[in-house]
Amino acid sequence: MTAGEKETIYKLLKTVSDSINGYTQKSFDMAPPVFSDDETAVEASHEVQNNAQIPQNDSQVTEVQTKKPVPLEVIADKIYECRRCKLCQTRKNVVPGTGVLKPLVLVIGEGPGEEEDNQGLPFVGKAGQLLDKMLAAISLSRSQNCYIANVVKCRPPHNRDPLPEEISACISFLDAQISLLKPSMILLMGRVAAQSVLRTSSGINALRGNFSMYNGIPVMPTYHPSALLRDERLKAPAWQDLKAFRAKLLQLVPDYEKNFVK
Ligand code: URA
Repeated sequence: MTAGEKETIYKLLKTVSDSINGYTQKSFDMAPPVFSDDETAVEASHEVQNNAQIPQNDSQVTEVQTKKPVPLEVIADKIYECRRCKLCQTRKNVVPGTGVLKPLVLVIGEGPGEEEDNQGLPFVGKAGQLLDKMLAAISLSRSQNCYIANVVKCRPPHNRDPLPEEISACISFLDAQISLLKPSMILLMGRVAAQSVLRTSSGINALRGNFSMYNGIPVMPTYHPSALLRDERLKAPAWQDLKAFRAKLLQLVPDYEKNFVK
């Protein structure tokens, strides 16, 4: 079924349900899910996809036009046009995510900072440089076997935490990304990512290093690299977490480190 057909059926059912139950404020506030086509034309594994890139020449444009749309790009298009919350008024760029198309690991952060907003790419500032080092230490990288995304796709002003209404407006994009990317494991960076994905109000100290499941995918939260930059003492427990994450990943995919280029 195509994304358009699913959306039409969703809207029809929602209208029927609203008219039976009465139109409440909640029904207006609810963010619609993101729909994508059932079939995917993307076969290439471990191919880098940077959603912020635009075709550079005519042949690339033709290729994009003649192939079936890549579902991840469909989600990215929805994110680019999103005006579900006020963050759209202050953003310079949206930051859908970047990485390989069939990632071993999905890394999820909180939301874009200043540098990410400037470039339209996740984790490209100081915290991003540390994140890349943390990942490399366990044979992971955005160019080889990971995809990196955030809970909110637009920068909260002055790097404040995203508000609950901004998270609930944006979370269906992340849910859709997870179900398309189908990573073997998910690494959650920091409190906001952990609470949003695990739908909990527990603090990061209680959540970090513990595994749980998200739709059958093992998930583990750890400290956000920005927290490690602020407080060196968190580096040792974060390293314990990363070692536990690697051990679990090796159980699931025993040869995952074989082809990793350091
Ligand atoms: N912090 C995040 O959580 N995400 C980014 O993309 C950058 C910094």
